[in-house]
Amino acid sequence: MDEDVEKRTVRMLLRLLVSSFLLAGTSFAVPTKEKRVHRHGDLSDHPHKDATDFQYDHEAFLGKEDAKTFDQLTPEESKERLAKIIGRIDINKDGFVNHSELHYWIKHRQRRYIEENVNKHWREYDVNQDDKISWEEYKNTTYGYYHGEEFDDVEEKDTYKAMLTRDQRRFKEADRDHDGIATREEFTAFLHPEEFDHMRGLVVQETMDDIDKNGDGKVDIDEYIGDMFTPENGEKEPDWVLTERQHFHQIRDENKNGYLEAAEVAQWVLPTEVDHADNEAKHLIHETDTNKDEKMSKEEILVNWNMFVGSQATNYGEDLTKRHDEEVLLRRTNIWEED
Ligand SMILES: *[C@@H]1O[C@H](CO)[C@@H](O)[C@H](O)[C@H]1NC(C)=O
Ligand SMILES: *[C@@H]1O[C@H](CO)[C@@H](O)[C@H](O)[C@H]1NC(C)=O
Repeated sequence: MDEDVEKRTVRMLLRLLVSSFLLAGTSFAVPTKEKRVHRHGDLSDHPHKDATDFQYDHEAFLGKEDAKTFDQLTPEESKERLAKIIGRIDINKDGFVNHSELHYWIKHRQRRYIEENVNKHWREYDVNQDDKISWEEYKNTTYGYYHGEEFDDVEEKDTYKAMLTRDQRRFKEADRDHDGIATREEFTAFLHPEEFDHMRGLVVQETMDDIDKNGDGKVDIDEYIGDMFTPENGEKEPDWVLTERQHFHQIRDENKNGYLEAAEVAQWVLPTEVDHADNEAKHLIHETDTNKDEKMSKEEILVNWNMFVGSQATNYGEDLTKRHDEEVLLRRTNIWEED
């Protein structure tokens, strides 16, 4: 591309960026009450009812996409692939899968879409292909030749500067060893800060920057509602907004001083959740560890294979092991339904 064309392209892209950035800070008349809240959700859309099927376990263990693939395999193919997976889960290669290895595995299956997103952008930003992304590489790729002076429009110019400042602050926060260069893990934290404990403060700060319009370092009821809802020509507040007003006072404002401070904003946008991956790891080990040494051998897992992965047989119940499965299921039902 010749330089002028490139410049124009960057400029166009940037305008797009700026306008979407402006939009992101604007409220719509549609219910946007949940837009700030980062939830990780459950491991599967299926109910966890092992008495009926193992869909929940399959999706938790494999991720949704791979669980579908396994459902198309014969039991033999399925077990073969499972055996290979076990080798990958067993990080220290001691021949056993323990709780921490399984917990880590399940968490990563759930984070796969994030890793895919990072991979997608990696090559684009890693200009010199050293498998790291420096701040300058990121800045050049995203903002090109722009310095912010090119905008005629004052609002655009300010927005551009705000974007750059925000990006730079976030990059610094993600760059844990402060060398100005992001590894893959650090770049993942940059693109998806809500996934990382050490980025919590920054996520809260960015939320504050968006909502705290008068800049007094706390969120009042008008700022809180204003972020979700803007009435259009005298429109009455819908019920969900009234509910949100109550939530502000009754739930979010824990110290009842009429404002949300950083800690309260953190509780709101990054709620502490049940660690589903932890529960599922415990559950799978409990069901599989027949000799009760609190870890699973490859043999134990393969005996219990259809709890971990699907196949045509487990789908349609035509397998020879069906009788056995039914007995196991009966036993499991009791255990699972205790809680
Ligand atoms: C479980 O596996 C992890 C990772 O391989 C290892 O560091 C840890 O020591 C293991 N824990 C036990 C109790 O064996
Ligand atoms: C970024 O762009 C500037 C100005 O065009 C250039 O001097 C610099 O070498 C570039 N940096 C990287 C890492 O590509």
